[in-house]
Amino acid sequence: MIRPATIPDVPRIAEIINSHAELGKMLFKSYAQLYEDLRDFGVYEADGQVVGCCALTIIWADLAEVRSLAVDDRYRGRGIGRQLVEWSVSEARRLSLPRLMSLTYEQAFFEKLGFVVVPKETLPLKVWSDCVRCPKRDGCDEIAMVRVLPDVADSHQPPATPTPRGVSIPVLGHED
Ligand SMILES: CC(C)(COP(=O)(O)OP(=O)(O)OC[C@H]1O[C@@H](n2cnc3c(N)ncnc32)[C@H](O)[C@@H]1OP(=O)(O)O)[C@@H](O)C(=O)NCCC(=O)NCCS
Repeated sequence: MIRPATIPDVPRIAEIINSHAELGKMLFKSYAQLYEDLRDFGVYEADGQVVGCCALTIIWADLAEVRSLAVDDRYRGRGIGRQLVEWSVSEARRLSLPRLMSLTYEQAFFEKLGFVVVPKETLPLKVWSDCVRCPKRDGCDEIAMVRVLPDVADSHQPPATPTPRGVSIPVLGHED
């Protein structure tokens, strides 16, 4: 029931994500962004239509981000969100990526899926590249969470640039 997203899925993906974005639960996505990122997306189909979506974006050799996870309100609570995250996990395994992260308000949901809360500054600088587009960039209250896949070996490539400490990056909040 989960398959890679295709171009005809974009209007439904936008509709589901943006219905939650309007309530401040996640970032709004334009059609332009969805076309560009479409190869990261998996969609869940039920009753002949897309009812959920999730993207897995590669951040670095050892880290991928679960993004744009959203389930149509009429289909919530049926295990679809869990299956979409598990789809991301299987994608990470396929790519030999040993760590997944999420920036979320849904801490309890992600804890059930094996993610643990980490300090934001332990994530690499590149993670914050989207913050310029976020309306909450000056007061980010999202929770950073990580799930390690112990069965996937780290390929020991050069590390990502860390998030500098003591430097004002909007997502980390002001230091005063
Ligand atoms: C968060 C979201 C993806 C969950 O999808 P869902 O299909 O309703 O979740 P599932 O039915 O797969 O739930 C899996 C488990 O998490 C639990 N769960 C789901 N939402 C939860 C929540 N908000 N808080 C605590 N637990 C939650 C379920 O009870 C279930 O537990 P169980 O396996 O012990 O029965 C969905 O509610 C959603 O689209 N929310 C709005 C968008 C959003 O916040 N996305 C996350 C952005 S990172």
